Amino acid sequence: MKQTHSCFPLLHFMMISLPLLVSSQTCQRFCGQLPLKYPFGSSSGCGDPRFQNYVNCNRDKLTLTTHTGSYPVTDIDYSNQVIYISDPSMSTCACTQSSKGFGLNWDAPFSFHDDSVFTLLDCSIDSSSPIYNGNNNNNNSSAVPLCDKKGAPICSFLYSCRAISMLNLPISTCCVYTPVDLGPAFNMDLKKLQCSSYSGFYSFSGQEANPENWKYGIALKYKFNVYNDYPSSCVTCERSNGACGYAGDYNSFICNCPSGVNTTTDCYFETSFNNAPRLLQLPWQQKTGNWLICIMAWILIWVSSSSCRLWF
Ligand SMILES: *[C@@H]1O[C@H](CO)[C@@H](O)[C@H](O)[C@H]1NC(C)=O
Ligand SMILES: *[C@@H]1O[C@H](CO)[C@@H](O)[C@H](O)[C@H]1NC(C)=O
Ligand SMILES: *[C@@H]1O[C@H](CO)[C@@H](O)[C@H](O)[C@H]1NC(C)=O
Repeated sequence: MKQTHSCFPLLHFMMISLPLLVSSQTCQRFCGQLPLKYPFGSSSGCGDPRFQNYVNCNRDKLTLTTHTGSYPVTDIDYSNQVIYISDPSMSTCACTQSSKGFGLNWDAPFSFHDDSVFTLLDCSIDSSSPIYNGNNNNNNSSAVPLCDKKGAPICSFLYSCRAISMLNLPISTCCVYTPVDLGPAFNMDLKKLQCSSYSGFYSFSGQEANPENWKYGIALKYKFNVYNDYPSSCVTCERSNGACGYAGDYNSFICNCPSGVNTTTDCYFETSFNNAPRLLQLPWQQKTGNWLICIMAWILIWVSSSSCRLWF
């Protein structure tokens, strides 16, 4: 009795350390707490190549990079295809700071989500200001208005924030910026617009009059392709604990498996060992892989039990 009991820790150690020792998945399935799925990837070669230059995982932090800076990704809504980022230079109800603005690269595979609202703060109101020119000071109808007049309540609510009211600026220096509606090639250059800071949010959290609880940040939409289809090869790969990637000169599909092996299909051959019920769903051609793993497991058990016999 005593002998079998003392054998178990060794056996368990070996069973647990087998997957850990061989775990070297280049394409991570998580970046910190955020799950990574197609089209996003942790590094180049992982995920859709169109996204590889913009979204990367560094030291467990997922960031989106544009020509204006690097922005922490705070959440990804995979079912609605929305990525949420924060901008450390952005003003919120809790703090105001100066910023250079925000811009998306013209070729970035993102566009602004309809819920994204940008409010420019502390803008120059003289006639040379591009924001008010053609809007307030004259009635030249060929000038595009840059501020949404219907957005005035948003400015009033923001002005109820202590940090913003302390700036002691007239509310006319606040502008709800409309070009966000106009398309993806959007560059909010605050220097050109003669504003010193901005605030962005994507939700009132159900309390429009309580700007302390608004969700500050930027919401961006993305599409998989012109038909917006999720590639079926990625579905299968991800279901088998693989990370979907496109790599090589021809951007061909790879499934990066937990062991680090790349396949052109999926990783069921290695996950079935840790996840026995999956055995039933396996296509017949993966059986050789299962047998190999079963044999390895038996060798392990045999080795550990024989070493127990030797030691005790
Ligand atoms: C698997 O693919 C990834 C992503 O392209 C690459 O970085 C890695 O080197 C490949 N691993 C092997 C073992 O070929
Ligand atoms: C707008 O146009 C009208 C008629 O064209 C003119 O009478 C008026 O002075 C203009 N207003 C401003 C602010 O320029
Ligand atoms: C109206 O604005 C356009 C472009 O901003 C400018 O070229 C034009 O001269 C302006 N017209 C008047 C009457 O101010």
